[in-house]
Amino acid sequence: MSKDPLHTKLCDQLGVEYPIVAFTHCKDVAVAVINSGGFAVLGEAMHTPEDIEADIKWIRDRVDGKPFGIDLVLPASAPAESSLDEIKAKIPQPHWDFKKSVMKKYDCPMPKQSVDLHQWGGLSQALGRAQLEVLLEERVPVIASGLGSPAFLLDAAHARGSKVWGLVGRTRQARRQIEAGVDAVIAQGFDAAGHTGDMGTLSIVAEVASIAGDTPILAAGGITTGRHLAAALCLGASGVWTGTLWLACRESDVDMIVKERLIESSAADTVWSDSISGFTMRVLACPWTEEWKKPEAPRPLASPYQMILSSDYIQGSNDHRRKDLMTEAAGQGVGFVTEMKPARQIVFDMVEEALTAFDDIVGLPD
Ligand SMILES: Cc1cc2nc3c(=O)[nH]c(=O)nc-3n(C[C@H](O)[C@H](O)[C@H](O)COP(=O)(O)O)c2cc1C
Repeated sequence: MSKDPLHTKLCDQLGVEYPIVAFTHCKDVAVAVINSGGFAVLGEAMHTPEDIEADIKWIRDRVDGKPFGIDLVLPASAPAESSLDEIKAKIPQPHWDFKKSVMKKYDCPMPKQSVDLHQWGGLSQALGRAQLEVLLEERVPVIASGLGSPAFLLDAAHARGSKVWGLVGRTRQARRQIEAGVDAVIAQGFDAAGHTGDMGTLSIVAEVASIAGDTPILAAGGITTGRHLAAALCLGASGVWTGTLWLACRESDVDMIVKERLIESSAADTVWSDSISGFTMRVLACPWTEEWKKPEAPRPLASPYQMILSSDYIQGSNDHRRKDLMTEAAGQGVGFVTEMKPARQIVFDMVEEALTAFDDIVGLPD
């Protein structure tokens, strides 16, 4: 092969060896991936500005000048300032009754502490802005927006030398962001863990890549092997953005019970549901998601109301480590997550497998 197929324009943009991006909430995972030649973006939407500042320092102290990213959610629908009580007052009584009946049916314990959802940038414009200010102040190399267009922050970010990436589930969103001048677009398909639209990964990556011009595209959704990486590059992506792949790795701080469930699960154990946050989201199926599918269930509410309804179940089952109730965002590639490997091993296995896939297709030179 005349050129290294894994050396893409994303590698050039970032100065990294491999076009593999880990999305993670765990700082140890982020650092391990960065120090293995990949790139990592830390999800900080649930963190206070002070925590974000501390986390940035923590990463910088361990990556020897290598770049990293921070992801926030900047949804257009984040309510202007309103108290949790005001938001709660808008939830209809039948929804509260249904939530209570599910909690009772499964004997789901209440959280150990009351859940403070104002810690989520998606629930408060003021928090979202304060989080963003830290990223700008700290000149974080990549600012990613997992929800909501980041176009409004391009000038401020670029003036500080930060790159801006936007995650999309539709080609028209990608077109708008590319025209606005984002530095990379993450084209995320239905297979993905977490909030996701209804376009399949194969379709959205190919479609977005076809309109992207020089803007690097990252493929996301269901990518857990080197063969997926090779396929994504063949579709026109310059790299992959992966989440599920890292949840059960050795460094990950995900609860061991959830790691076990992930390792036991395959694509069919995931479900696409709006019963948790009010946005459609892929997670491991659990009693909460299954109950909200039933005909007698009320229609899940929009965000942030549904998130408030589900928070006691989610936090209660986590706090009390109820394997029968717990869930986690997981993509359809979860079936390939079969052991607790160190993050470095995952990076190297993925690279080797992708190179083998290319060699299998084009053959080795004589
Ligand atoms: C546990 C978990 C939590 C996630 N939380 C966020 C989030 O806060 N912000 C975000 O932009 N994406 C979030 N995602 C989605 C990832 O950014 C990514 O798009 C997705 O995991 C890709 O699909 P895959 O898991 O099949 O690789 C999350 C994913 C997982 C697995």
